[in-house]
Amino acid sequence: MRKIAVLTSGGDAPGMNGAIRAIVRVGIKRGFEVYGVYEGYKGLVAGNIKKLGYSDVSEILSKGGTILESSRLPSFKEDKVQEQAIHQLKQRGIDGLVVIGGDGSYKGALALSQKGIDCIAIPGTIDNDINGTDETIGFHTALYNIIDAVNKLRDTSSSHHRCFVVEVMGNHADNLAIYSAIACGSEIVITDKTEYDENKIIEELKICEEEYHKKHAIIIVSEKILDVEKLANRISEETGYSGRSIVLGHIQRGGSPVPEDRILASKMAEEAICLLEKRKSGLCICMKDNQIISKNIEEALIEKNENHDRLYQLFLDLA
Ligand code: F6P
Repeated sequence: MRKIAVLTSGGDAPGMNGAIRAIVRVGIKRGFEVYGVYEGYKGLVAGNIKKLGYSDVSEILSKGGTILESSRLPSFKEDKVQEQAIHQLKQRGIDGLVVIGGDGSYKGALALSQKGIDCIAIPGTIDNDINGTDETIGFHTALYNIIDAVNKLRDTSSSHHRCFVVEVMGNHADNLAIYSAIACGSEIVITDKTEYDENKIIEELKICEEEYHKKHAIIIVSEKILDVEKLANRISEETGYSGRSIVLGHIQRGGSPVPEDRILASKMAEEAICLLEKRKSGLCICMKDNQIISKNIEEALIEKNENHDRLYQLFLDLA
């Protein structure tokens, strides 16, 4: 019986468990013996690998995080570290691997496939920043988490005539910020790709207050751009709103995955098994125009997602 393994790598994402469950269950039904690698590439190198049965993945579909745990291993770029990982797989007779993670994890999968392991990558990251796919597993849940938090902030902001500066994750990708700004009806959004002029923000807030008589304002900011607390202080000093800031942080990554992520995860995992059945390698699963397809990992790593300018324009037209 052919043996394959599955691992989760990089930042965890809600829905990863759904993908693991589908790899195990579909894999077993299609005649594979399926192994779980614990703690991502770190566990692969260390040989932290266990056989998974049908019931090992019971009751995990609704759970956030990843039952296999995850890690970031920068040294996986090195040849000798990759060789050690391959040794661990070969020793157990495993010749296929499904890697669920972000673009850093894809590079590891590509390297292993070039060294003879049949590797298929599945996009698992809340950032939705993997080129070649319209959606990544975890993005929808993180978006839901942000919207839920901002709805609450809006209630308290309007009671106190406040402007909340809300920092969201994204790791230099603007997806979480732009999508949540549209879905929350925020007044301002700041990302790597939008302009960021503090004086202009202060002027816009004055217009919100004086011309539109808004009781509150919400500013969504992508992480790693500015100090949200400082901006909130300036807002207090120079506008009629009292400024407050919040960094939503890892709250965005937790919680039960929403249906979109559970279904996406299950569909992508099934496609990964189909590809392994055909002895394909070096491919990643993508959702493109509502279809599950596969691409070469290299191609997906360089291809660009082009629709964001239009989304930002939509935000501006709505704000
Ligand atoms: O890639 C997912 C992500 O949550 C990013 O949005 C964020 O920048 C990063 O991971 C945080 O990483 P860590 O959990 O290692 O602090």
